[in-house]
Amino acid sequence: MNGGMGEASYANNSLLQRKVILMTKPIVEAAVTALFSTTATNFPASLAIADLGCSTGRNALFAVSEIISIMIDLCKATKQELPEFQVFLNDLPGNDFNTIFSSFLPRFQEKLSEQMKSKNGAGVMLPCFFSGVPGSFYGRLFPRESLHLIHSSYSLMWLSQVPGGLEGNKSNIYMARSSPPKVLRAYYEQFQRDFSTFLECRGQELVVGGRMVLTLLGRKSDDPSSKECCYIWELLAIALNEMVSEVYQNLILEYLNSRVHIRIKSKLIFLITSSESCSIVP
Ligand SMILES: C[S@@+](CC[C@H](N)C(=O)[O-])C[C@H]1O[C@@H](n2cnc3c(N)ncnc32)[C@H](O)[C@@H]1O
Repeated sequence: MNGGMGEASYANNSLLQRKVILMTKPIVEAAVTALFSTTATNFPASLAIADLGCSTGRNALFAVSEIISIMIDLCKATKQELPEFQVFLNDLPGNDFNTIFSSFLPRFQEKLSEQMKSKNGAGVMLPCFFSGVPGSFYGRLFPRESLHLIHSSYSLMWLSQVPGGLEGNKSNIYMARSSPPKVLRAYYEQFQRDFSTFLECRGQELVVGGRMVLTLLGRKSDDPSSKECCYIWELLAIALNEMVSEVYQNLILEYLNSRVHIRIKSKLIFLITSSESCSIVP
């Protein structure tokens, strides 16, 4: 994603993703409440939260602020002592972590202490420690059983790589109506491999009873090349075809094949339920 704070930066062009985080607030609330009740008898002194694929800008801390705020309310309501928070912000190494830590974190911390003062009275501090974790979430990022809550929004549709075997998809840059079946299969199999690896890694990193809230782009249609998810890529491919000369066309389009994949919910549920590492909590 584009770093910095300029006009074309992710920080200034991620309102849609912010809205998605807002829409999923009730699910996050339910997950934090469930975590709180499972750990109630043995409440940890320190709670570790990770946001995977955090990108940069306000959104990187938005979900975390919701999670902490819910936790503060739960502790207050049950007269439970507040834990210390360890917050891990993960993205690929090229992500603009500097902008998060230099521009957004100071304001976030200010707001957090204002919130603490208004809810718990002046003088009550909330120890909250932030770290950037550069690396791919398709591998291990954290020590075994070290995380209580994992959040990831609008990131898991990115595959670890463009699938192999896309030859014959010539004028397309993603699955399209004219894509041969082997292209659709290649995308599905890449997603299946990646998502299973993701679940396996997170299963090792979460404490027993830990929770995950994952939000990713999906489609309703059974047809993987339906307009619902592929149209925008088809339009982009048409524009690119117009822009480049015949000579470079194949080269450029091959290079530009999408690393994004949009799944249908039922297939996603199938992958989670057949995983030995994680399960879906109603
Ligand atoms: C659309 S942004 C979403 C950012 C943020 N979660 C939000 O809701 O605004 C997707 C992010 O996922 C990150 N990403 C993609 N593949 C990744 C991977 N394998 N490991 C970690 N981050 C990844 C991208 O670098 C990008 O910053």
